[in-house]
Amino acid sequence: MAVGIFDSGLGGLTVLDAVSKRLPDVPFVYLGDNKHAPYGVRDADDVYNLTCGATERLWDAGCDLVILACNTASAAALRRMQESWIPRDKRVLGVFVPLIEALTERQWGDNSPPREVAVQHVALFATPATVRSRAFQRELAFRAIGVDVEAQACGGLVDAIEEGDMILAEALVRSHVDALKRKMPTPQAAILGCTHYPLMQEVFQDALGPEVAVYSQANLVAASLADYLDRHPNMHGSGQSAMFLTTGDPKRVSDHATQFLRRRIQFEPA
Ligand code: DGL
Repeated sequence: MAVGIFDSGLGGLTVLDAVSKRLPDVPFVYLGDNKHAPYGVRDADDVYNLTCGATERLWDAGCDLVILACNTASAAALRRMQESWIPRDKRVLGVFVPLIEALTERQWGDNSPPREVAVQHVALFATPATVRSRAFQRELAFRAIGVDVEAQACGGLVDAIEEGDMILAEALVRSHVDALKRKMPTPQAAILGCTHYPLMQEVFQDALGPEVAVYSQANLVAASLADYLDRHPNMHGSGQSAMFLTTGDPKRVSDHATQFLRRRIQFEPA
């Protein structure tokens, strides 16, 4: 009954932590494509090919359902995968839709037509590839009307977090928030549209000010996945055990992951 969780690197561990707490009986197989991270600076074809390869590896591990716990992959590859590549007995879901459903105050999986919502000025912080894809705006337009989105590509932030350089990461967050505020002085809500950014949530909140509602994904994805598995119990795959797989150097990735989540994590070669 395993479910796959994919990220380009370690950021998806924030999602893994939340889904494991929410669904303690489900074994999760985590795959980090550390060898090819970061994805945020790659072009869409590249992200698509890498994401398809990683998804196949998780299917092989007995995970019929794979969560792309990577906004860049969700933004740049998921729609193309769903339109032409995923076989009927498998599912791949992304991390944007639960976030947008929460922002637009919808029930999980509510596909009713777009409507006016309370929030009108939204700041999106994400990787350059996610911002370029405009996937957030596209998915939002399916659900809400009259929402103004200003996107800020946070160059360098994923690398600083992956390297554990939190002083640089904090300086980058503050300068990206300043840049955003020059374009949209008073956002009502801010989306942390990259799985690495929850680690910097307090700095984002501090730089944005207390009046801005900051949305981060991990708990929203966990709640939405629990609801999805309730509605689709057949999507529990055949895999039985939890695993951490990486395309990178397992020792180095395990050490970084342990630092990242502040608990011991042991990765195996993918
Ligand atoms: N974790 C990925 C995301 O959520 C970004 C990291 C990367 O650039 O690879 O967008």
